[in-house]
Amino acid sequence: MAWTDICAFEDLVENSGICALVDGQQVAVFLLELQGEPQIYAVGNYDPIGGANVLSRGIVGSLGEQIVVASPLYKQHFDLTTGRCVEQPEVQIPVYEVKLEQGRVWLNAVNQAQAASAA
Ligand code: FES
Repeated sequence: MAWTDICAFEDLVENSGICALVDGQQVAVFLLELQGEPQIYAVGNYDPIGGANVLSRGIVGSLGEQIVVASPLYKQHFDLTTGRCVEQPEVQIPVYEVKLEQGRVWLNAVNQAQAASAA
């Protein structure tokens, strides 16, 4: 486990995303307010369908039970907890664990989507 301090909680933008560079990888970090509780999600910033680093600029929302980001390019939706594309489930982006500690946002740079499928 490699936890990295990526930013202050105040650097996050509610209901929107920011981009962080962690171990040379671009990560999209989203802050959502769900039932009054702040929730932070982190996924790869790279949209493998659009072929560009744009997901931090995507629109976040829910699709049924799923919390998703819509790519600003072709509007595919990626599930923020599994990394799976809703429209093309064979496509999956990395997902990362995040935690909040004393006002700082920490990210575990191990791709949880890969860890899950390897288990
Ligand atoms: S997010 Fe960069 S072109 Fe849309």
